[in-house]
Amino acid sequence: MRSIMKKVYIETYGCQMNVADTEVVFSILGKAGYGRAEQIADADVIMANTCSIRDNAEQRILGRIEQFNIWRKARPGVVTGILGCMAERLKDELLNTGKVDIVAGPDSYRRLPSMIEEALCGRPQIDVLLSREETYADIDPVRMDKNGVSAFISIMRGCNNVCSYCVVPYTRGAERSRDWKSIVREACDCFSRGYREVTLLGQNVDSYNYEGTDFAALLKTVAEAVPGMRIRFSTSNPQDISDEVLLTMASHPNVCRHIHLPVQSGSDRILEKMRRRYTREWYLSRVDRIRELMPDCAISTDVIAGFCSETEEDHRDTLSLFEKVGFDAAYMFYYSERPGTLAARKYPDDVDIATKTRRLEEIIALQNRLSLESNRRDLGKEFMVLVEGPSKKNPDELCGRNPQNKMCVWADKAHKAGDFVRVKVRDCTQATLLCDLAE
Ligand code: SAH
Ligand code: SF4
Ligand code: F3S
Repeated sequence: MRSIMKKVYIETYGCQMNVADTEVVFSILGKAGYGRAEQIADADVIMANTCSIRDNAEQRILGRIEQFNIWRKARPGVVTGILGCMAERLKDELLNTGKVDIVAGPDSYRRLPSMIEEALCGRPQIDVLLSREETYADIDPVRMDKNGVSAFISIMRGCNNVCSYCVVPYTRGAERSRDWKSIVREACDCFSRGYREVTLLGQNVDSYNYEGTDFAALLKTVAEAVPGMRIRFSTSNPQDISDEVLLTMASHPNVCRHIHLPVQSGSDRILEKMRRRYTREWYLSRVDRIRELMPDCAISTDVIAGFCSETEEDHRDTLSLFEKVGFDAAYMFYYSERPGTLAARKYPDDVDIATKTRRLEEIIALQNRLSLESNRRDLGKEFMVLVEGPSKKNPDELCGRNPQNKMCVWADKAHKAGDFVRVKVRDCTQATLLCDLAE
């Protein structure tokens, strides 16, 4: 028995999947008798759950490792660890820096208690084995969101789509779906603990398949099992998002009217080089279908500017696609070559950084206008909003998202986090709908 409880601090980088994983890690560690440190200063174990998606993400974390090492040196007995995608990608390289005691890939978290124990005894630990089965289905995550309203539920792990630019299949391994019964159980459990929104997470939710249960069936089951819960999901891949999923959304009012549908590029030539398995025309036809079935559905996207060999014409195809779709929101990046990926092996990273930056800025400027236009279309409309808490700028105002995932703020003293409130849009900025309580 440990006499004093050891405490673990974890900083989480990267996507929502990593947030969900950190919650799994805290659950595993909690069962093994470790506490959670809110601050580095209180921690015996300092860890980062890391992301490899772009070089700048990794550089930032490498900087943090230096910082962690300063704490580690200053306080004997403190150990440091790297979890997640960078652990998986860089493996021994991280241990060899001598600044890290534990390197644990995304499928090795069940072993963390014993790895930490060993590391605390001065023996560095590494486990970067990827699994074909691990889904952490039986683990009850320790929720870390601040407001207790919105939770992530991981429904699958890994990815089988080898998009040529992407490191995820290498860091997360093969795709596997989690038992749908454990997902429904987790959603019900969240509801009973006061959560009113869950986001079902996977790199490609449309290829969810657990012993014949597909994503449409899962979505339907979860939506019907907890009718008072809002359901979101991410990410949908344009080649896979099926009519069944759209029809299930359309027939379940608690499934939010928002689809995140990363397009990556508007040029067929580039899409092919990216190994995305759809064309511009196919993408636009899916957008039409979404709007036909759900005219009020928001669509957001991801895009990469300056992929290998991208010409001005390809770039203009991306701009024109954005204009044509009129995205409600977008995450925009310029291409960052990832070692070991197909693109890194096959295509030179030949768009210079000035051009990448300029193209990215052009996309951002366009999207800023489209976001504003999208918000302006909502003026005068009423929405049901889930209260997240006080707005950042004004303590007399509450904030929360509408089903389309747009941030709303309104003056309100009567409601609290977790309430559903009807609001009417009075004005807007590019980022926010400024609302009043509806009559
Ligand atoms: N599974 C999701 C995306 C996961 S990664 C999907 O397929 O859509 C999130 C986003 O990061 C991607 O959509 C892509 O736009 C971006 N991204 C991935 N690899 C990148 C790279 N090498 N350089 C720049 N952006 C990248
Ligand atoms: Fe990466 Fe493509 Fe898989 Fe998304 S679908 S995680 S972009 S390989
Ligand atoms: Fe990053 Fe890994 Fe997510 S590379 S985006 S943390 S799956």
